[in-house]
Amino acid sequence: MKGVVLAGGLGTRLLPLTRVTNKHLLPVYNKPMIFYPIQTLVDAGIKDIMIVTGGNNAGDFLRLLGNGEDFGLHQLHYTYQKTEGGIAHALALAEPFVGKDKVVVILGDNFTQSSIKKAVDDFGKQDSGAKIFLKEVSNPQEFGVAVVENGKVKEIIEKPKVPPTNYAVIGIYMYDSDVFNICKTLKPSERGELEITDVNNEYIRRGTMTYEFLEGWWADCGSFEALLRSNILVAKENGIQI
Ligand code: DAU
Repeated sequence: MKGVVLAGGLGTRLLPLTRVTNKHLLPVYNKPMIFYPIQTLVDAGIKDIMIVTGGNNAGDFLRLLGNGEDFGLHQLHYTYQKTEGGIAHALALAEPFVGKDKVVVILGDNFTQSSIKKAVDDFGKQDSGAKIFLKEVSNPQEFGVAVVENGKVKEIIEKPKVPPTNYAVIGIYMYDSDVFNICKTLKPSERGELEITDVNNEYIRRGTMTYEFLEGWWADCGSFEALLRSNILVAKENGIQI
């Protein structure tokens, strides 16, 4: 199983913090944000990891992460997203690295409190298709939202104004290598991006999408409030009283 961390994009919701640096290099308590999703993959037993980044700060990722020594790795792979074409556009760049393997994709501003190892192992045994995590949230309109019926995900709606459920789709996705064929069929959304939600809806259409509810907290650092909350969660996890 390969791992891909997506750390491109402009981080415009965090301006001016992201004017001269990449969102994923900002601090979350005592480490740069990107350390956490990499650790989530490593803790799940994934050692073969590619970082997709872009913009003006790509060199900083190499200086910061090197060959992954901080995570006990011997090598990290990197690729460069030239334009901010969306999450599925960034993922498509990892095709030569993933090849015919399965892949766990994690957004560079997402990470989890508890290990995802069991779900990753389960997906390893799944014949084909995809697997996602859901989490009940109080602000579903800020995420991809899943409609679940009879134990199956029926549809995912990206940031609906009127969310049909409180089930957010978190930014960790497991795919077979067919994901790259699906990426090639996508058309840009209204916000001009190739959407990961369109990829997931194609797996749902095929009937090969599985899901599970994530245990423990999940951090998304994409907005000021979410970044602050993530800092507090991690600090508390480290025994700091806030
Ligand atoms: O956090 C979970 C949510 O992430 C999901 O519920 C949504 O369905 C999914 O679309 C995504 O929503 P966001 O609008 O929060 O995604 P954002 O544009 O912030 O991108 C998330 C990460 O993806 C970002 O930290 C880096 C990576 N990315 C994003 C874009 C647009 C890239 O690598 N390249 C890109 O071009």
